[in-house]
Amino acid sequence: MAIQEIKIRSYDRKIDRARVEDLERRCEVGPAKRVFLFTDTMGDPICRIRNSPLYKMLVAESGNELVGVIQGSIKIVTICKPPKNQAKVGYILGLRVSPLHRRKGTGSSLVHKLEEWFVSHHVDFAYMATEKDNEASVKLFRDKLGFVKFRTPAILVNPVSHRTMHISHNIEIAKLKIEQAEYLYQRFMSSTDFFPHDIDKILRNKLNLGTWVAYPRGESWSDEHVPTSWAMLSVWNSGGLFKLRVGQAPLSCLMYAKSSRLIDRVFPCLKVPALPDVFHPFGFYFMYGVHRQGPKSGALVGSLCRFAHNMATKCKDCKIIVTEVGGGDTLRLQIPHLELLSCPEDLWCIKALKREEKQTLYELTTTSPTRALFVDPREV
Ligand SMILES: CC(C)(COP(=O)(O)OP(=O)(O)OC[C@H]1O[C@@H](n2cnc3c(N)ncnc32)[C@H](O)[C@@H]1OP(=O)(O)O)[C@@H](O)C(=O)NCCC(=O)NCCS
Repeated sequence: MAIQEIKIRSYDRKIDRARVEDLERRCEVGPAKRVFLFTDTMGDPICRIRNSPLYKMLVAESGNELVGVIQGSIKIVTICKPPKNQAKVGYILGLRVSPLHRRKGTGSSLVHKLEEWFVSHHVDFAYMATEKDNEASVKLFRDKLGFVKFRTPAILVNPVSHRTMHISHNIEIAKLKIEQAEYLYQRFMSSTDFFPHDIDKILRNKLNLGTWVAYPRGESWSDEHVPTSWAMLSVWNSGGLFKLRVGQAPLSCLMYAKSSRLIDRVFPCLKVPALPDVFHPFGFYFMYGVHRQGPKSGALVGSLCRFAHNMATKCKDCKIIVTEVGGGDTLRLQIPHLELLSCPEDLWCIKALKREEKQTLYELTTTSPTRALFVDPREV
């Protein structure tokens, strides 16, 4: 039988929308023996990149059949690269190849085409994130396409319970105006790796629910004077863009989900974390830009997280709260999360697309992985 040639072209909503959604439904992401997480883009397969400054989606066709898809976005971020400490980066996401067409080079061809698009826009580095035990993805990007390990942040997931969480009366929580939030981010986080230079666009996006600060009650807060100990974070409503659904779960997980919800209802004082119903499409909040300063700031981060949780209890389909923090960052100790749902090491890989960036790449991949990392809510 003759092998059909693979044709790669830009996504065309009119002819590809339903076929891309169908492909997404047929593609599990991650190792087969674990829980499959499916994305439901609710009729807009390009929604995950739509909020980025520049984006592209490519599809691969074999004859009339759509057999693969990939998405990419471009932005400018902070990267420790004197004198300007900034770089243009291209993010690769949503790579899927139909199960029947795998190991025929389609995934590699889609990445190559996207890299060509990055190069045509003068991108310095391409990067991607994957589960470290997604063997196909790790082998493809690291062994075949020349990407190198860059960071291993932890994805922390906390279920939203129907009960509100207690926040100490000794802590003041205040919502910032967008201008104040932008000022604080520029002042305290702009030197963080991957801090996006269009932070103002993120803060003004309708999916951004706001930015809050916490500080000891009785202390004063103003733009000129911040207390000795304080913490901040922003919340993004990812569920406004797409939904998640767990496709297959081990029996132990299903049992845990059922029994923990029951225990939570019947014996709330036991404080067993209730696993929500994750087997039907659900939305989630993403906490980002978490920053803290001062000796009491750990407890302040915890209070902000509980505040975000209490906000989520009022959103009907928000079942989990997610955040991502740099590997080894002690912040994770303050952020409530359920180990069962969290991923201790998300693997970020990077590749220099310009010859002159090879040295920066070396420095980036050999500096301490504990450096803080800004995770853009548009790329979740
Ligand atoms: C990952 C994925 C896109 C790979 O697509 P593909 O078209 O099969 O990839 P290619 O044929 O270009 O494979 C290139 C190389 O990647 C590696 N590779 C791909 N799949 C592999 C697998 N299942 N096991 C081990 N290595 C694998 C091999 O080195 C392969 O080269 P080889 O076939 O010469 O040995 C595909 O498996 C997929 O859609 N998986 C589900 C979704 C997913 O996990 N996406 C990645 C999210 S970041």
